[in-house]
Amino acid sequence: MSLQPHGGHLVQAFNPEKDITTIHKEIELDIISLSDLELIAIGGYSPIEGFLTQLDYESVVEKSRLASGVVWSIPITLPVTKERAATLQPGDEVKLVYDDKIYGVIEVVDIYEPNKRKEALLVYGTEDLAHPGVQKLHERSNVYVGGKITLIKRIGQKFPAYSFDPIETRQLFAEKGWKTIVGFQTRNPVHRAHEYIQKAALETIDGLFLNPLVGETKSDDVSAAIRMESYEVLLKNYYPTSRVQLGVFPAAMRYAGPKEAIFHALVRKNYGCTHFIVGRDHAGVGDYYGTYDAQKIFEQFTEDELGIVPLKFEHSFYCQQCEGMATTKTCPHDGSAHVILSGTKVREMLRNGEVPPSTFSRKEVVDVLIKGMRKEVVK
Ligand code: ADX
Repeated sequence: MSLQPHGGHLVQAFNPEKDITTIHKEIELDIISLSDLELIAIGGYSPIEGFLTQLDYESVVEKSRLASGVVWSIPITLPVTKERAATLQPGDEVKLVYDDKIYGVIEVVDIYEPNKRKEALLVYGTEDLAHPGVQKLHERSNVYVGGKITLIKRIGQKFPAYSFDPIETRQLFAEKGWKTIVGFQTRNPVHRAHEYIQKAALETIDGLFLNPLVGETKSDDVSAAIRMESYEVLLKNYYPTSRVQLGVFPAAMRYAGPKEAIFHALVRKNYGCTHFIVGRDHAGVGDYYGTYDAQKIFEQFTEDELGIVPLKFEHSFYCQQCEGMATTKTCPHDGSAHVILSGTKVREMLRNGEVPPSTFSRKEVVDVLIKGMRKEVVK
């Protein structure tokens, strides 16, 4: 298994020295395009070098491939208002601004109106405005600008001790002597089921890259700060730390299920992973996707095209009769013996100060979650 970045080379587009004195036009970024700008520039989205042009955008939406044919499943777009779009022309260099600070520059290739209903249907699999990803898609401005970017200012990380660029994680994994590395995406605290599939993977893979997403998530997801604390206590108490690297993934969550699973895998390949865990309803929300749709989509591409191996896990749970974690692949008992709690139920319990059972979540993790939630309510 090679550690080639997706598309063959790691994009590096951070240049704080870039002369911007002659650039006068501006585009205001939203929080999603700000995080995308940085991820493009540090190579997380290699081989993408900028916000998608119309040709690439349509190809990604319709075929989950860039126009070059390289697999890419989530459109990385720069939405601007119609008024702003009217001031722009192909060939312009434009400053990318957030909160009055200049973070980058785009060399405009084209300015186009997307068909958002089609984007919703083909990327998210639904046009339903109640889907948080579709809702966000429609909330964002209605004209897209495509073109190569340069990042001129880093965003400033919320978790500096755990912030690594792909070039750095690749170096870290090499220093640890890991030949095989399994990436784990999560937007939740790590519960026993997550721990089980990570450790099952660690039985045969050299190292685990625990890579929680800390960009924008929907408001009822547990905040990144609380989650990071929960990962720290979990790793300290239950993991062989020499075989795990914790590092944040600063992207926004799209909740696009299967298409996002492919995207998550490709980005982790850029961070240097050879394998990627896809469990039940990966990146799903509500009941928009089938439990294993995010695993099945990997069959649409060859192993060579993806360059990262999905490790697919069944829905796992604690079985009171087996007295251990299991899945229906390994446990013969009836569902009544299985401890399965929905995310909504757990959040409700935590909010009420109720402690989910240790068969669901480690005590240390629960303590952090309850303490953190109290603090956030007080704030
Ligand atoms: S996600 O939106 O980031 O995918 P989450 O943090 O819940 O959500 O899941 C992280 C990973 O663990 C995903 O690959 C998901 O499929 C997997 N997963 C979550 N819960 C389970 C479970 N009970 N059994 C098996 N896999 C699971």
